[in-house]
Amino acid sequence: MADTTLMDKLVSLCKRRGFVFQSSEVYGGLGSVWDYGPLGVELKKNLKERWWRAMVHARDDIEGLDAAILMHPRVWEASGHVAGFTDPLVDCRTCKARFRADQVATASCPQKPSKAPGAHSACDLTEPRLFNLMFKTFMGPVEESAAVVYLRPETAQGIYVNYLNVLNSSRQRVPFGIAQIGKAFRNEITPGNFIFRTREFEQMEMQFFVRPGTDEEWFERWRGLRMGWHHEIGLTPSKLRWHEHGPGELAHYAKAAFDIEYEFPFGWQEIEGIHNRTDFDLSRHQEYSGKKLEYFDQAANERYLPYIVETSAGADRVALTVLADAYREEQVDGELRVVLGLHPALAPIKAAVLPLVKKDGMPEVALALYHDLRRHLPMFYDDSGAIGRRYRRMDEAGTPFCFTVDGQTLEDRTITVRHRDAMTQERLGLDQAATWLLERVAAG
Ligand code: GAP
Repeated sequence: MADTTLMDKLVSLCKRRGFVFQSSEVYGGLGSVWDYGPLGVELKKNLKERWWRAMVHARDDIEGLDAAILMHPRVWEASGHVAGFTDPLVDCRTCKARFRADQVATASCPQKPSKAPGAHSACDLTEPRLFNLMFKTFMGPVEESAAVVYLRPETAQGIYVNYLNVLNSSRQRVPFGIAQIGKAFRNEITPGNFIFRTREFEQMEMQFFVRPGTDEEWFERWRGLRMGWHHEIGLTPSKLRWHEHGPGELAHYAKAAFDIEYEFPFGWQEIEGIHNRTDFDLSRHQEYSGKKLEYFDQAANERYLPYIVETSAGADRVALTVLADAYREEQVDGELRVVLGLHPALAPIKAAVLPLVKKDGMPEVALALYHDLRRHLPMFYDDSGAIGRRYRRMDEAGTPFCFTVDGQTLEDRTITVRHRDAMTQERLGLDQAATWLLERVAAG
């Protein structure tokens, strides 16, 4: 049963604390498009950095890429998106509502009382019609079909068409990979669940080029590595599982596909896909571009089109996963405590510096500490209100540590470190604070 209350609470916290706002809210909002506020932009940036570190910096066999969003329109013919990236839709001629044909049975008609589309006597449904999910625009001043370009619906194609450029300009040899983080756009018919399915989103994709015949082994290796990454960012292992695509589910390009699913308040849903795409993409681009895209293996003295193992995650979707997984409510001394138990590496603010009271020289020492620490990490200074309330504000923002300057600090130059999760406290030398914090943020 979907826990909509939890999602409502999360959406409300995200707005209240500046994680995520609805796009163009003052104009009534734009459907399923969201903006990241001061804390949200930090969270998403930290997530992307963790991914980039694991996929590019920590490996010798993967290079990074940042391809343009706009690409030659033939790319999308070769990829199959012009012909096949469609959803069958059914329109109601009476109320003008539109439904995905495969969801008519579970959708609600806007007429009252709400029933399934087609169930009212006035309903007048069309036959299913194919609707392409790509956003179209025009390049240059003339709006004609020759000038049509698309906002990319995935970042992967930018990698395929650059694979030889990367190979020829780096010291890589097959097997090797190319990783990219970037925006993608899909005119989704049934977007929703906050930032889970949106029309503009970011993908973190990696395409790994391998010798045909070694693809299955690499596929298994990447499955293990990617599940491991989700554990490392702190997601609850029992809320993660595999879903294997059956024959009826497999995309046209895939020989095998597994999704990593997370148990959201609205049910188990995909957060990342691992696909064995064979040589489908390179052979299509070779055919449509007329350019040879084969790899020459000098050692074996043979030419072949590499097979591709893809790992594809949504940055926004993983950000939602991290938020949903971290959200918890506790009763402490008869009061509700809302906590975002974010991994310190992902937390937008790494620590807050708080003078216990606004007098006796405590603010001066606290401000000096704050200015020193923020040269290294994002920090927050807060001297307003009771100390308990200030801790609660930081708990809700996911800040893992609070450094409190108190009477004892003035005597022995130690501060109190308060831990968000256990709410325990310990003392630490003022001059050790930077090293202590940097170690904890880098760990894990
Ligand atoms: N290149 C392969 C590809 O794009 P996909 O399963 O369509 O595969 C991969 O998308 C990932 O991108 C998904 O697992 C999800 O995390 C994210 N994603 C896809 N559509 C999305 C949407 N409308 N909103 C947010 N994230 C989305």
